[in-house]
Amino acid sequence: MTLSANERLGLAATDPRPDSETRPVQDRRETNPLLNDQPMKLGLFGTNCSYGLIMSHAPSSYEITWEHTKSIARQADRMGLEVMVPVARWKGFGGSTNFNGNCFETYTWAAGLAEATENIAIAATSHLPTVHPIVAAKAATTIDRISGGRFALNLVMGWVPPEMEMFGGEQRQHDERYAFGQEWIEYAMRLWSEQGSFDVDGAYFQGRDVESYPKPHQSPNPVLLNAGNSPAGIDYSARNVDINFASLDTLENIKTYTETVRNKARDEYRRAIDVMTYGLVVVRDTEKEAKAAFQQVVDEGDWGAAGNVIKIALSGASQSFDHAREMSERFIAGWGGYPLVGTPEQVVQGMKELNEAGMGGMIMGLIDPDQELPMFRDEVLPLMVEAGIRH
Ligand SMILES: Cc1cc2nc3c(=O)[nH]c(=O)nc-3n(C[C@H](O)[C@H](O)[C@H](O)COP(=O)(O)O)c2cc1C
Repeated sequence: MTLSANERLGLAATDPRPDSETRPVQDRRETNPLLNDQPMKLGLFGTNCSYGLIMSHAPSSYEITWEHTKSIARQADRMGLEVMVPVARWKGFGGSTNFNGNCFETYTWAAGLAEATENIAIAATSHLPTVHPIVAAKAATTIDRISGGRFALNLVMGWVPPEMEMFGGEQRQHDERYAFGQEWIEYAMRLWSEQGSFDVDGAYFQGRDVESYPKPHQSPNPVLLNAGNSPAGIDYSARNVDINFASLDTLENIKTYTETVRNKARDEYRRAIDVMTYGLVVVRDTEKEAKAAFQQVVDEGDWGAAGNVIKIALSGASQSFDHAREMSERFIAGWGGYPLVGTPEQVVQGMKELNEAGMGGMIMGLIDPDQELPMFRDEVLPLMVEAGIRH
């Protein structure tokens, strides 16, 4: 009989009692707003990276300092938004802005914001090839405990080769990234939920007498997010996560997409999944002002950075970027997301159309969060309630 490492050292098998005594037994829906019953959930996206979602020199007071990122999160928290989602980025995209090049690491960012906020969900976005599941699962657990069950983990496979090369490895082929991600998340799930210790013998990971304590606040695991849009990515989301993020252009495509993701999760994996989108939101008193603000972002855009992103995206064999060339403006003004530009009424109408096409929410980029969040709170949120897409 082979002895385990624990047995060789004379260590007792882990006693599950201390953990079962300290783990708060709670329904994730009670603590994590991402699982609440708002028809159209709202969040902010990319407030940990320079220029956020806009590749442009258009004027903004937004800056990457801890004080500012914290104050934006606190405003979003007080307004009752559901989530803060950061961008995982290790190097900028060049151009005249070196877009997103000044960027806070997301697990540590989430830990800080978890302590600084009260109700909003805080996500970390994790490039799975850059972090071992044992380290990530424990970091996630710690943030989940700090936040009292408000943590979410956005699982990304890494689509930017220059970033992955910083870690000394070769970028895996597209679908193999998801095979790696599958083994990664199964490993993390065991760490979050299994009592005692276990061995891992996978294609990518091996481990002996592996264990992780304490367990996260949310049982059996924190809310999981993924933004895979290719067939392999949709399959990964349907199989593993609570919310898929989609990058799409037309309402017709959105409707087909949201149905596909939900049906796949239900029929193939017996699971429920929500779908959300992202984009730049520009609200002003008049349509003319809103359009002018959007146009200024484009006119003062960093076409160099946009070109670099598109070059990488087109070489990355990802279906979701097939139309990237025509999407230059959308990359500059909203990272390729679905833009909503207009008066409060027009923006709410846009949200309603997204919701009717099956979107359960939107994470937003803003040109200047300090300037725009108060107007969003006072003029957009009440209209969303009137429109029946929030309560
Ligand atoms: C809302 C959203 C957030 C994303 N966040 C990141 C990120 O922070 N870092 C990153 O490298 N990729 C990020 N991505 C890219 C996705 O991980 C993924 O590569 C892309 O959606 C294409 O997926 P596919 O290859 O399955 O089509 C994000 C995508 C979306 C839609």
